[in-house]
Amino acid sequence: MKKAKLSCAILAAGEGTRMKSDYPKVLFSICGKSIIDFVIDTVKRLNIEKIYVVVGYRSDLVKQHILNSEFIDDKTKEKIIFVEQKHQLGSADALAKVKKFIDKNISHLLVLSGDVPLVSFDTLKNLLDTHINSDVECSVLSVMMENPYGYGRIIRDISKKFIDIVEETESTQEQKTIKEVNSGIYVFKLPILWSKLKKVNPNNKKNEYFLTDVVRFLSSKQTVLCKNSFEVKGINTRKDLSEIEGIVRKQILEMLMLEGVTIRMPESVYIDFKSKIESCVEILPGSIILNSYISKGCIIGPYSVIVNSFIKENTEVVYSHISDSKIGKGCKIGPFSRIRPKTNIEDNVRIGNFVEIKNSVIKTNTKVNHLSYIGDTTLSENVNIGAGTITCNFDGIKKHKTFVGRNVFVGSNVNLVAPIEIADNVVIAAGSTITKNIPSNTFVIARAQEIQKKNHRIVKKLFGGKNE
Ligand code: UD1
Ligand code: CA
Repeated sequence: MKKAKLSCAILAAGEGTRMKSDYPKVLFSICGKSIIDFVIDTVKRLNIEKIYVVVGYRSDLVKQHILNSEFIDDKTKEKIIFVEQKHQLGSADALAKVKKFIDKNISHLLVLSGDVPLVSFDTLKNLLDTHINSDVECSVLSVMMENPYGYGRIIRDISKKFIDIVEETESTQEQKTIKEVNSGIYVFKLPILWSKLKKVNPNNKKNEYFLTDVVRFLSSKQTVLCKNSFEVKGINTRKDLSEIEGIVRKQILEMLMLEGVTIRMPESVYIDFKSKIESCVEILPGSIILNSYISKGCIIGPYSVIVNSFIKENTEVVYSHISDSKIGKGCKIGPFSRIRPKTNIEDNVRIGNFVEIKNSVIKTNTKVNHLSYIGDTTLSENVNIGAGTITCNFDGIKKHKTFVGRNVFVGSNVNLVAPIEIADNVVIAAGSTITKNIPSNTFVIARAQEIQKKNHRIVKKLFGGKNE
């Protein structure tokens, strides 16, 4: 193998007009990981001196994202140099901007598009090795596309020698039928690239400096074929994004299955890159798990959404929504529960149907089984909350806290008007509205007295009172 010193340029300055968005295209997420993170994540495994990221459209956002990305390690971040392309005049102009930052001892430059996220390490390694061994000025990663629309076509002469790349907009009807296309990934020899880049002009329908035109000016060049067309699919539209996400979503699920996670009907399940699922978890149809940790033995779903949450071992979550919360071991959540942010549920807790919990601590062995709202509350151990019980935490201006001690039995349809504290071993009768603190070992009943009137005139009017 010949000796080469390699750096890499990632072109990511484009506006991404076809996404029809104000947000930079390379920051769009695929299963929780941005498009640009994929590219940098793959490149970092190559033996590369520096990574030049050409930024332009909303460059501050792109830079900030990359520097804060959890998918890029610090060592790689140190290798990154941001290069500004103020005006997006085309991919050749973007690459030309890199020149003044490049060390003189760099002999080869790998060029990638910030919008081609799935190219694999093996494909790049093969491109680089082939390039360096063959000593050409330029190697283009090409690919056969069943539907080549939108891509630059690889043009060959009669002897099949690679001579040029023609963009879709510039191509003839005959050229449009060519299925071998440019992936937008290249290796160039330095410094010859720089003098040839200067020759590129914007005389085309888009008035852009096409990087693909530089190929024409380089005399020794080759294509290296990438076998998997999905690897080099570029993201230009939201339709492309969805196609790529479909592939990545499947890859994540397949990886989890091989690690011992059961996934029923995987075509209906979405789990992002930021989630960690331990082995022996079962994920049932229609479930979505984002940035969450699911421990061994849990059963999630069907149709549950878990966001930014941590769930300990052997808990079941059925038809429920959990966000920004912690759930302990052996809990049963749902069907149809909603656990809102800042909730900390301890072990063996049951939260049942149509129960909403927010900013609360629910301690071990406590049950809130039916039709309740528990907000800004601490429920201590062994509490039973009856059906329809509500913590009245909001007085129209401020939120107030509720505290419920150990072993408290709250009957059905109780209103706990906060701020309020209920000590241990209290029984509250059904239908009570509680506004005062309750000391321990107390029974409380607080409801309007019931009156019964025999043969009342209404009864007579309705039923005639004949049967008495
Ligand atoms: C490009 C190639 C095309 C190839 C396809 C593969 C050119 C002219 N064409 O087309 O042959 O088949 O990729 O996906 O390169 N960029 C900048 N500054 C600019 C313009 C673009 O940094 O001024 C960046 C973009 O952010 C993007 C990359 O260059 O990451 C490619 O640009 P894009 O406009 O997406 O080119 P394509 O039309 O996809
Ligand atoms: Ca593109």
